[in-house]
Order: sequence, then C-alpha cells, then structure tokens
Amino acid sequence: MRIGILASGRGSNMEALIEACRDGRIPAQVAVVLSDRAAAGALETARRLGVEAHHLNPRDHGSREAFDRALVAVLQRHGVELVCLAGYMKLVSREFIGPFQGRILNIHPSLLPAFPGLDAQRQALEYGCKVAGCTVHIVELEMDSGPIVMQAAVPVRDGDTEQTLVARILEEEHRIYVESVRRFVAGELRVVGRRVVRVADPPRP
Ligand code: GRF
Repeated sequence: MRIGILASGRGSNMEALIEACRDGRIPAQVAVVLSDRAAAGALETARRLGVEAHHLNPRDHGSREAFDRALVAVLQRHGVELVCLAGYMKLVSREFIGPFQGRILNIHPSLLPAFPGLDAQRQALEYGCKVAGCTVHIVELEMDSGPIVMQAAVPVRDGDTEQTLVARILEEEHRIYVESVRRFVAGELRVVGRRVVRVADPPRP
C-alpha cells in the first residue's frame, strides 16, 4: 500500500511512520510527503530519509477547495491509498475527503472528544486533568471528529509543564500512530457506525 503524509511542522510523527515502513513494521511505503508550509521541518526530514517531499503553497490556489484539489491530484499521481495527517494544520474540505473517504487518518494530542483544536495539551493541563493522551481517528469533515482507531492515556503529574506533558504524549503518539497505520494497512479495521473494530481474520495485504 502506498501512503501519503501531510505535515505542516517538525514532522516527528511523519518520521515515525516512515521509519516503521522502512524497517517492515508497517508493510507499506510512504510514497510522498506534502506540506502547506515551505519552512516545515518535515520536508527536510522526509528528503533526508529518501522520501519525495513537496511544498504546495495555498496562496497559489484561489480557495481551500482549489488547494485541496491540487493536493488530491498529487496524491493520486503517486498512487496513494492511505493519507496520514501528521501535524497538518489546515482544515480539510469535502474536496479532499471525498476522493479518500475512510482512508484519511489523523493524530491529535488529546483524548478526543476532549480538547479538539489547537494547544490540546495546554488545554488539558489548564483544565486540571489527571489523565491526558492522544487519539488516532479517521478524518471526517468536522475538525478532530471521526471514528477512533486508537487512544493512549498518560498521567498528568503535579510538576508538569506544558513542555513535559507534550513530550510524554508525543512518545505515545508515535507508538499508536504506527500501530494504527499497521492495522489499517493489514486490513484489520472495520468501521461499524462510530466504532472502529478489529476483524478476527483479516485478508492478507
Ligand atoms: C502532534 O502533537 C500532533 O498530535 C499534532 O501536531 C503535533 C505534530 O508534531 N496534530 P510532529 O510534527 O508530528 O512532530
């Protein structure tokens, strides 16, 4: 299976996915990395790891829909069957979701449905949560919604700062994103209503 990754920032989740594909933990190949930000560290990291990576500038396209159509065209040209959002900061439109219905995953640094949106870890800390975590979910139109593939919880400790909590959650992000993509690629996942369930006897990839 060919995977496309969209990233706007440093790209540590992207890197975890590329590494897992390279060493065979995920039986798939990252075909292309795309970013809406020219300065995204993810682009450089992807190229260093031998993955084709491109910046697409939203300003070159008249609307969000037009930009999304351009992204879809590049992904389709690379034969992408699964799209992973990894710190991708733009909202995706219907134009993007349509062609990849049920085949777009996202990682979010909270236990959804708590704390969607920006600065989720800070929101959890400020709320006084004792437990925080991260979620991998299938992307739907509404931000940070969609059936949940995996979640991992971490404790919030008394001495935590935003930085220490972010780091604790990030470690779990890398782990559950890799495992979620592995399950998807292996054909182990089925969506039943809002629930993502694992099938007992998946077809061979
Ligand atoms: C991660 O915390 C991810 O959950 C969120 O944005 C951050 C991206 O980090 N959506 P990285 O670019 O993968 O290092």
